[in-house]
Amino acid sequence: MKFYQSLILFLLLSLTASAQRDIQSLNAGWKFFKGDKAGAHNLSYDDKQWEKVNVPHTWNAQDAYQTKEYYRGDAWYRKTFLAPKDMVGKQVFIRFEGVLLKAQVYLNGQLLGTHKGGYTAFNFDITPFLKSGEQNVLAVKVDNSPQNIAPLSGDFTLFGGIYRDVWLIATSKLHFDMDNFGSDGVFVQTPVVSEQSANISIKGSLKNNQSKAQAVKIAYILEDAEGKVVLHKEQRLSVNKNQSSPFQFDIKEVKKPKLWSPETPYLYTLRTQLIDAKNNQKLDEMSNPIGFRWFRFDAKTGFYLNGKPYKLLGVCRHQDQQWTGSALSDETHRRDMQMIKDMGANFIRIAHYPQDKAILEACDKLGLLAWEEIPVVDMVSPEAEFFESTESQLREMIRQNYNHPSIILWGYMNEVLLGTLRKVSEQDRPKVFKATQGLAQKLEDIVRKEDPYRLTVSAQHEAPEEYEKLGLSSVSNILGWNLYQGWYGGDVTQFGRFMDDQHARYPDRSHIISEYGAGSDRRIHSLNPECFDFSIEYQQEYNEKMMQQILERPNIAGSALWNFIDFGSAFREESMPHINNKGIVYADRTPKDVYYYYKALFNKKPVVHI
Ligand code: GCU
Repeated sequence: MKFYQSLILFLLLSLTASAQRDIQSLNAGWKFFKGDKAGAHNLSYDDKQWEKVNVPHTWNAQDAYQTKEYYRGDAWYRKTFLAPKDMVGKQVFIRFEGVLLKAQVYLNGQLLGTHKGGYTAFNFDITPFLKSGEQNVLAVKVDNSPQNIAPLSGDFTLFGGIYRDVWLIATSKLHFDMDNFGSDGVFVQTPVVSEQSANISIKGSLKNNQSKAQAVKIAYILEDAEGKVVLHKEQRLSVNKNQSSPFQFDIKEVKKPKLWSPETPYLYTLRTQLIDAKNNQKLDEMSNPIGFRWFRFDAKTGFYLNGKPYKLLGVCRHQDQQWTGSALSDETHRRDMQMIKDMGANFIRIAHYPQDKAILEACDKLGLLAWEEIPVVDMVSPEAEFFESTESQLREMIRQNYNHPSIILWGYMNEVLLGTLRKVSEQDRPKVFKATQGLAQKLEDIVRKEDPYRLTVSAQHEAPEEYEKLGLSSVSNILGWNLYQGWYGGDVTQFGRFMDDQHARYPDRSHIISEYGAGSDRRIHSLNPECFDFSIEYQQEYNEKMMQQILERPNIAGSALWNFIDFGSAFREESMPHINNKGIVYADRTPKDVYYYYKALFNKKPVVHI
């Protein structure tokens, strides 16, 4: 072996054999109690009588499909786990992917913190409280009672529980900063893309928990879909002791990138490695998908991806399944996404809240352009707690999902005047209206700062004058419309005229039909299908007429039907009580007839079903 060959081998070995992020699942072996229990956070609390559960778990998997008085209150989870000895000398975090609606987390009797918001992940640094090589006790008090945290209202069930994965993550003392609103510490964008070349912009911060400064290198390695290294860049930095230091790097030379699109969702991988400059030891590594694409909206002619016109056509999706609630496995999420793709959709509105990591990963891999949003639904509260927790839900959503090339739109309000007009007394309305205006502007400003590369959207209901009066229709970049002419009343053929009026009202804005839908039930049929009869035939007729009007109008940039699935809606008492059955697939994911209508319409190649 020549000297340089052995040198390369040595360098490779020293990189691969070194310490980096270590991730373990904490999903199994929890104890659960529905209700409050004094002292349950204590290390020595006796939970022998509690129910044994694994997470993902929700306590509303049964009752929310049986009664509108489903349990909304406190519950406790406890888990004992052995922290491996090799965690000594590391920084150790616990990560919850989703706990609804508020979580207070204790380790060995010590309060780690409180998280508000049921749909975003959060981390706690548990290093000071962890006993390595010994048993540790986690105790989590979860509360899904109505409180000053979005969503305040809405028809969807609020399934309480630790309903997504829980992880134990160990990093080097010096690592990409995970305390950053639950992000993984590295933010990647492709601000300039063309068929000829592309730029990648990377930023983040390094957290040094050591009492000494350290010289480091960050290596940026771009690999194509086959794993071939396309380019490799390095940056040198020095990080002060006990501090966070920001970093930023631009890669300008990606020549002739393979573009990402719904037809060819080509993904590169960017590996960002943090390396000790003295001994070449790898300290941390993040791996992110890169999809090179560019997009724009035109008020008159719609949406463009990579310079080509595209009608955004797709679905909104809730995240539950009857008798399981929201505690679904990644496989179940992926199955839904594959069905949406097979139907020929190119667009998904992830409504009304951020969903499982598996959903966003599937959007990137399958080529589904995504709108993601926070759950400000029906109304806002003027209280400071509501404002603070909503702003942090927005920051968490953006920072945790920033690296998904499939995302093009951030949403922050849905039909925010509907609940106010229905539920707030006339006397209190001016205060709530003012708070709504203030919050809309605040959230818009946050997105602009957090992510100048995507656009914002909010969904209005069928009362444009109300939104206009308060100036709400002019805040976000894109206007979404939730329209139910032909279902809750009126005639589906009125829809097109309504939209023509909105274009005349806002000639310079781009519009998306963010919801339209009709309920159906496999047992109900009609020879004379009509509005609100829940027949399979009416759902079909409604969707065909609606789609025709959407397709006829180039100034409608796209649409997302409501909803992909029949979802849990505890307060509804319709043909399938406690379910909103506007799904185009049933709760068990059997397609309804209308699913095949869309499949035939959206797929360019014929699809044969045997
Ligand atoms: C609304 C709302 C949805 C709801 C839907 C419906 O427009 O945004 O959350 O489920 O209508 O009534 O089915």
